Amino acid sequence: MPDFLDIGELPVEALNGIVTQASSMKAAREGLTRGAPDSCQALAGQLVALVFEKPSTRTRISFDVATRQLGGQTIVLAGGTMHLGKSETVGDTARVLSRYVDLIMIRTHLEDSLRELAEHADVPVINGLTDRTHPCQVMADIMTYEEHRGSITGGKVAWFGAGNNVCGSLLHASGLFKFDVLFSGPPEFDPAPEFVDFARARGAKVEFERDPVRAVQDADLIMTDVWDSMHDSHEERECRHALLRPYQVNSDLMYHAKPEALFMHCLPAHRGEEVTSAVLDGPHSVAFDEAENRLHVQKAILRWCLSV
Ligand code: CP
Ligand code: NVA
Repeated sequence: MPDFLDIGELPVEALNGIVTQASSMKAAREGLTRGAPDSCQALAGQLVALVFEKPSTRTRISFDVATRQLGGQTIVLAGGTMHLGKSETVGDTARVLSRYVDLIMIRTHLEDSLRELAEHADVPVINGLTDRTHPCQVMADIMTYEEHRGSITGGKVAWFGAGNNVCGSLLHASGLFKFDVLFSGPPEFDPAPEFVDFARARGAKVEFERDPVRAVQDADLIMTDVWDSMHDSHEERECRHALLRPYQVNSDLMYHAKPEALFMHCLPAHRGEEVTSAVLDGPHSVAFDEAENRLHVQKAILRWCLSV
């Protein structure tokens, strides 16, 4: 059974299928109360382990609710309360969990931990964020863009601030869904070359524009994320913020955007740092649709992994 580890490792047909299924499952729920089960009970009898080595609101709750609405059950596990990678190898934990549950979703630090878990698990593994990528998030971002504006293929996305894990998955998606990415941030925070090369090798245009006003002008979609990711060191915070401050997404910047441009943020947002409340709560923002769509996309990812 397939793992969902990175957008860049999957065929675009599978990714499009996940977005399409997520959208139709969202439509089918219209008018239902939030706690109501889906008419599709594809996960009936299935048990999903949700393992978190870092905090989470959206990923944790959307996977939990998604599984329950599809008739399955969850066990939510804090990595710190398990032996995972400490008093036993990640691989041994994977072997044991595979004897108990039908699927493992993990939010972890190191890419190596994710890979070791997936290598040794006999059940599908989903990447719920590592220091390197956040593929489930970007699937919800694609879904959200397409529900508001139609196909993202050929679109222009401007990313402001730090080229982090979400930006990495965005670049994977740009290579597969064929949209352009304009990165606007200080060179110290450029996304890793592996992501830029991936997108460019598949025909996507990836450019760097250090002037945020120039970067925002042609964008169909404007994105940013926190300046302090969970894996970033606290000691370098002041220095990091000083470099990133010119790339704050605020009303002055949005004044130069196209009227129909969308704004997205994966959340949690640090209001007043990478984005102001005027933008996050303003007319361009679809950040809370984006958060809702995590739920619908998780359902489609779970179903894809379990072939149900
Ligand atoms: N966007 C996102 O993954 O949020 P959480 O950290 O709350 O899961
Ligand atoms: N870049 C952020 C995303 C949180 C969902 C982090 O890794 O903390």
